[in-house]
Amino acid sequence: TKIIGVLTSGGDTPGLNAAIRAVGKSAIGDYGMSVIGFRDGFRGLMENRTVRLDSNALSGILTLGGTILGTSRDKPHKMPMGGKTMDMRDAIVEVYHQNNLDALVCLGGRGTMRNAYLLHQKGLNVMTLPKTIDNDIPGTDISFGFDTALTIASEAIDRLHSTAHSHHRIIVVEIMGHGAGWLALGSGIAGGADVILIPEIPYDVNKVAESILQRTYSGKHFSIVAISEGAMSLETAARRQKAKAELAKAKEAKAEAKETDDKEALKKAKAAITRAKMLIAQAEEEISASTQTLTTSLEAMTNLESRVTILGHVQRGGTPSPADRLLATRLGTAATHLIQEGVFGVLVATKGDQIVPIPFEELVDQRNPVSLDHPWIKTARSLGTSLGD
Ligand code: F6P
Repeated sequence: TKIIGVLTSGGDTPGLNAAIRAVGKSAIGDYGMSVIGFRDGFRGLMENRTVRLDSNALSGILTLGGTILGTSRDKPHKMPMGGKTMDMRDAIVEVYHQNNLDALVCLGGRGTMRNAYLLHQKGLNVMTLPKTIDNDIPGTDISFGFDTALTIASEAIDRLHSTAHSHHRIIVVEIMGHGAGWLALGSGIAGGADVILIPEIPYDVNKVAESILQRTYSGKHFSIVAISEGAMSLETAARRQKAKAELAKAKEAKAEAKETDDKEALKKAKAAITRAKMLIAQAEEEISASTQTLTTSLEAMTNLESRVTILGHVQRGGTPSPADRLLATRLGTAATHLIQEGVFGVLVATKGDQIVPIPFEELVDQRNPVSLDHPWIKTARSLGTSLGD
């Protein structure tokens, strides 16, 4: 009988336990496989910290938030070890064989997929299931966790409406999503936000203020601004893009200087790299501060009292929605069928009604931002919602 390993990696997400349960139940029930859980993501795998996932351990976890296995953001090829980071892939390969694993199922997002890909290149039978509240995994229509977070963020926007209305205020609500705007856009539409700002569309603060003033002129003395944590002003976007271009140029110059053994040019290129990295870090800081910066500007420009609400990790906590339970369960059972068929090195993705395996190679360098012609963008515009552009 086959032995399979399961781990959860990256930020926790509602639905992880439903997926663990589905992988385990199907592996045991359909094929008589044995299932081993590894604690705390790739670190627990490296350290061989295991938990036996028998029927007992899999019972009663469907509705639980978080992950019974624990998680971490550790990467096999850059593992923090005594103040340094080390490539621990060979150690992980050894643990895999020590446990006589036939396959390893990693539940995670884009980072996890890259980690799994690197282990697959070392010859391990690995696959990933798409989990993240950010919905930013390429290749799959949707990831589990997103629906729950969408529900939580939409409900928060609902609740902010009544208090914003009562006090005639602007409330700027910051929504997670990492570098993608799916969660802010989806919950902004579902919650009826008046302005929705996402990373894919850098905003003009004047346009945002203008749209709020228009509401004031029509007798509505309050507004809800849903801002994605990765959203940025036009100015910040321009600075960041320039710094990134400088970094790319400086890296090229460094490579050339090395090739021609030009010491002076190498020194210059290294200095240019340091400078460009500093400018990128500055832009990232501006992005982190942008919810507050925008709120202060809007208060001054509209003369409406303004408040910030950062939803934060509440968006990731608690029991998964029925849609996420269903999705995680479908993906988990599909994973064991693929193991039985010997399909590895893939993301187990959804495409319409179907579940399809997609090779890592096709996905690891891809992203999944909101495209500017996505139907949700069109929907928001049709409603008259300002997207800050
Ligand atoms: O990827 C999920 C996510 O919640 C992002 O939306 C957010 O940017 C990030 O994780 C927060 O990370 P952490 O939980 O490590 O603070």
